[in-house]
Amino acid sequence: MSSERELSPETAVVSAGRPAVTADGNINPAISLNSTFHAGGPIGYGRYGNESWSALESGISALEGGQTLLYSSGMAAISAIFNLLPKGAVVTASKNGYTGTMLLLAQLEEQGKIETRLVDISNTEEVLAALPGTALLWIESPTNPALEVADLPTIIKAGKAAGAGVGVDNTFATPLLQQPLSMGADMVMHSVTKYIAGHSDLVMGSISTNDSALYNRLSDARKLAGSVPGPFEAWLALRGLRTLSVRMERAQANALELATRLSNHPAVERVRYPGLPTDPHHQRAKSFMKGFGAVISFEVTGGAAAADKACESSRLITYATSLGGVESLWERRHRWSAESPIIPTNLIRLSVGIENVDDLWADIEQALKKSQG
Ligand SMILES: Cc1ncc(COP(=O)(O)O)c(C=O)c1O
Repeated sequence: MSSERELSPETAVVSAGRPAVTADGNINPAISLNSTFHAGGPIGYGRYGNESWSALESGISALEGGQTLLYSSGMAAISAIFNLLPKGAVVTASKNGYTGTMLLLAQLEEQGKIETRLVDISNTEEVLAALPGTALLWIESPTNPALEVADLPTIIKAGKAAGAGVGVDNTFATPLLQQPLSMGADMVMHSVTKYIAGHSDLVMGSISTNDSALYNRLSDARKLAGSVPGPFEAWLALRGLRTLSVRMERAQANALELATRLSNHPAVERVRYPGLPTDPHHQRAKSFMKGFGAVISFEVTGGAAAADKACESSRLITYATSLGGVESLWERRHRWSAESPIIPTNLIRLSVGIENVDDLWADIEQALKKSQG
């Protein structure tokens, strides 16, 4: 679609990645179920490209900028980035990021492939001090599940100035709330599984970059690693992307209301949500993010057993891992043995969906009541 001015993100999610206009042509891309293609074209084989991937890749690029590659999962995308590093490279990353990322970093270090410097990513001075000699600054913000907010504009700029490659896991914020490439990052990565797809029905990842040489390296590596998504998943995720803006709007409004009510609940010791004016990350998030997202973490009075009891007692909120779907999900994070010891054992991560907020609150209230015995 051509336009005199750049489209707003709320429009781009709807209009990007459409097939070219032809009489009686498709308005949606086809689900291209092909492992191979007639010879002579630019794709050639189903591990190298697919029309259904290209549609979603251009949809994500319309929001993040640059060019995008899809992967079979968010972790496949993160692995593809870490695999670019030469032996012994220094990676500076949050000590409190997504457990899968933390486990992968630890494994690569144990194998002698990289050296990690783990920092409090929200402590700008600590990040800056770790930069000399860093090959890759890996930023997750807001972090999962502590909801810490990094000073993205400052640390991306400092990372580049120190000669590091800078990658951002933008899963929690989505490109609607922050666009790291526009702040100078080299790569932005998503677990498409979460908000972009939005319906808890597929697993996928993406990397977007403005650097065409980096894009080509990643694209060549993906061909050999074979970490490609299925065409049907790409089609479904593009269908999910169409409503990203309205889903985020509703989920964020619900999250702010629930975080406020949870803050005043006697069975809750602490609430973490950058949208709360009392949250230590609020001012920073407000200074460059266009919203605060829809994940809340909170600590339940009575310890791990009480938090488990609350999760088991919900009737509407699904007791399950993951986030970013239309349905609200929650879990006590430490039910996973790999969760960071920095995360309190009574912390519940709540991914707020798009249901009616009073229905959600009624469910939380009855579950918290049961949790207190
Ligand atoms: C912030 C973040 N990054 C990456 C991932 C990994 O994505 P996937 O599960 O699609 O491999 C997750 C999954 O929970 C996540 O929350």
